[in-house]
Amino acid sequence: MNRIKLLLLLFTVAARTSNLYGADTAPLVQSKQGMVVSVNPEASDAGLQILQSGGNAVDAAVTVALALAVTFPEAGNIGGGGFMMVWPGAGVDPVCIEYRETCPAAVGRDTFLKENRQEGHHTVGVPGTVRGMGLAHQKYGRLPWASLVAPAIRLAQAGFPVDKTLASGLNRLIEQTGEFPEFRRVYGKADGSVWKPGDRLIQPDLAMTLSVLATDGPNAFYEGQIADKIVAEMKAGGGCLTHDDLAKYRPHVRVPVHTTYRSYDVFAPPPPSAGGTQLIECLNILERFDLAALGPKSPRAAHLLAESMRRAGCDRVRFQGDPEFTPVPARLVSKEHAEQVSHSIQLDQATRSEDLAEDLKLTDEPPSTTHFSVADGAGMAVANTYTLQNSYGSRVVVRGAGFLLNNEMTDFNWKPGVTTRAGQVGTEPNVMAPGKRMVSSQCPTFVSRDGRLQLITGSPGGRTIPSTVLCVLVNVLDFQMSIRDAVDAPRWHHQWFPDHLQFEHLGDPEYAEQLQILKQWKHNFGSDIKKLGDGYRRQGDAHSILIRDGTLYGASDWRRTQGKAAGW
Ligand code: DON
Repeated sequence: MNRIKLLLLLFTVAARTSNLYGADTAPLVQSKQGMVVSVNPEASDAGLQILQSGGNAVDAAVTVALALAVTFPEAGNIGGGGFMMVWPGAGVDPVCIEYRETCPAAVGRDTFLKENRQEGHHTVGVPGTVRGMGLAHQKYGRLPWASLVAPAIRLAQAGFPVDKTLASGLNRLIEQTGEFPEFRRVYGKADGSVWKPGDRLIQPDLAMTLSVLATDGPNAFYEGQIADKIVAEMKAGGGCLTHDDLAKYRPHVRVPVHTTYRSYDVFAPPPPSAGGTQLIECLNILERFDLAALGPKSPRAAHLLAESMRRAGCDRVRFQGDPEFTPVPARLVSKEHAEQVSHSIQLDQATRSEDLAEDLKLTDEPPSTTHFSVADGAGMAVANTYTLQNSYGSRVVVRGAGFLLNNEMTDFNWKPGVTTRAGQVGTEPNVMAPGKRMVSSQCPTFVSRDGRLQLITGSPGGRTIPSTVLCVLVNVLDFQMSIRDAVDAPRWHHQWFPDHLQFEHLGDPEYAEQLQILKQWKHNFGSDIKKLGDGYRRQGDAHSILIRDGTLYGASDWRRTQGKAAGW
């Protein structure tokens, strides 16, 4: 290793910090020039190399997104959609590049009334990721598009080592996906044996698709040979998506929702993300209480978090939909609204969700989505969350093209008017309509102070997403935790219905007293909540960057894989 490389390595100190929350953690990485934090080491390294070769944060984010489509197929994608928050730097307002999927033209509000399957061709929404990345690049990119796609092509062609999570995910899916032969062909091992950590996954069809995108540009996904393959796949499997749906798909540049929180500014994605508005509503409620004085392990702080989440969750069900189709009230993110809804919060008694609005109940969502954060040395940053909805989406791999399609149609209110105690939501704002975007919980977030970016975060986790982001923000802004501890700290979640307060460390003796008091205050922890992971439920995967005095501190989240914070 030459001297310069050695010095660089020493500078990007990957030190294990003291961790308040037990052995489960990952390194905190410190750097000055640039940082990429994602769920996958190959993708983080690919993004870092783009920064090192003169690319900015958006260039690196495009590369990370495409690399994750290769190395993290459960959620990384070109067949899904998401939200990219861009912090352009130097006094320019942040924007949200919204590339959420849309409803195909052939699908209307009642199309799936009698359909219960949550996977398969009918669940595929018009994918937004490729045009979303194209728009981000066109608006902000510095390096040529083809050079940003190249690392993903290399990873698909040469392969990469499968980790424990991917090996077990693929083995499980291959066993289950009898009706999806292309999934087995693309993700199965050539000799038919099971995947083991360290095996190489090579994806020649995906390499070919990415090469077409590199040479012909993002539109090649929507018109031309890739579009032809998608439509052929749809016809073969009885899906609804057509050439016209693909050609008409457009991402949007949107103005983020914003609030002040104590001395900070917080920016998150606007509708059709409900997650951004939920986060802002929670913060506006919590600002009315002195959380710092209460401390992170106080029952009252947890109670207030829960009550804010409950109210924001209820408002989501009432109001949230695609703003092009349904008016989403701007007051949801106002201080006045927070004041109004706070009146019903009692300090030592949980509100019954029933009492906020009757006859409505929410469903849970299965994994997976992924979030990554990027900052370059020149003040530009990206918070990107994108998804296929379920883990491995619809399970439909486009024949001969090597990539998975989303099952994002399941984020619509599937059965209009049917809002049941069994957990379905059928409220009007989020019913299906041709061309409409389904509501999302995704919530990539920026926090700044005096115009300077301080925190980049976000998470997967379906309806738990805004709760996870809220926990990270409160941990940093109120409880003054390091970003390592803020990411590691056990997380809370409430979504209004089911009327359950979720906590990652349920059953941990360290929290017994706190939980006992919360139970006395009538919080319901739900008999169906199982302990997951190493004895504990795991919520989200918040790959985050904290910026203090010009230094970038990257903390990957270890909850799904170890992830990687790659600093320069
Ligand atoms: O956009 C949404 O809200 C969902 N499709 C996200 C799904 C998700 O986060 C699952 N991941 N763990």
